[in-house]
Amino acid sequence: MSLSLLSSSRPQSRPHPRVLPERPLRAVLLGCGTVGGGVMAGISRQLAGDVTIEAILVSRHRKHRAPGRYFTEADCVLATGPSLVIDCLPDSDLAEQLLDRALSSGADVVSANKAVIARRPDLADRAHERGSLLRYAAAVGGELPVLETVARLRSERRDILSVSGVLNGTSNFVLDRLAEGAGLDTAIHAAQALGFAEADPSADLEGRDAEAKLRLISRAAFGRDPDTVHRDAIDETTPRCVRETAACGYRLRQVASLHRTGAGIEARIALTPRAPGDPLGEARDEENAVRISCEGGDSVLLTGRGAGREATASAVLSDISAILAERYGR
Ligand code: HSE
Repeated sequence: MSLSLLSSSRPQSRPHPRVLPERPLRAVLLGCGTVGGGVMAGISRQLAGDVTIEAILVSRHRKHRAPGRYFTEADCVLATGPSLVIDCLPDSDLAEQLLDRALSSGADVVSANKAVIARRPDLADRAHERGSLLRYAAAVGGELPVLETVARLRSERRDILSVSGVLNGTSNFVLDRLAEGAGLDTAIHAAQALGFAEADPSADLEGRDAEAKLRLISRAAFGRDPDTVHRDAIDETTPRCVRETAACGYRLRQVASLHRTGAGIEARIALTPRAPGDPLGEARDEENAVRISCEGGDSVLLTGRGAGREATASAVLSDISAILAERYGR
């Protein structure tokens, strides 16, 4: 991951006073797929003395998992009374209900679930009312500290005018494969096999994943959701468009952008040719690249891995560390 102009910092929201949770922090893990498996491995590697995983919610039992208490019933998992709930589930009604229940119980929550957080802005209010911490840095930009950088700029009273970037690793990976001559289905299957794509990859290709990320950025940057959203989809017409763009020496990219104008906040997810040397055009495979532009002409550029087990798990682990720091001052 690289960051130009500014270094990242975690936002320091103030939790309401409450009884300090026990240490090690008793956590449960919701989902143990690509990201959840990476988080579990990371906790045992980096946070073993600070966090214990009391229970893990899985969709089905499997042999050859890492040692742990696995349950297929969410009630069994939440009945352990965790202080921290780590959500690595795909977007679903179940994920939404469990986040709601976790925050209602007063637990702190770390979530990688951009779709749920985007459509349920009330969850942040619930966390605030209950004195819980809700963190979701992993929901935007993988290992890039996008939300943290936006929060830092705001805390420095810098006026953000626009944010634009490659925010979806799957679509970027697919566009690169199409440029190499692969077929659309082959490219999508490869993104799924590498753990980049959502459970339903149409969320990546139709720009809904990027839209959810833009909503989270918009709340962090402007305090509210966009007023208008436009989305272009990657579809069967895209391979030809990629070839024609490449013939002119450009790269086609799914560019997600937010602009604050006099008329409101506009979100766009558009397939856009980018010239060689343009950082958004230079993002390869599952990489993301995000430019945050401020009043006065300054801008911050973030680049790095935007999808996949390691990138997302490392962002979840950062959020867990931030919660440890806020709760215990460590
Ligand atoms: N499906 C998402 C992407 C995963 O490809 O960017 C990371 O948010």
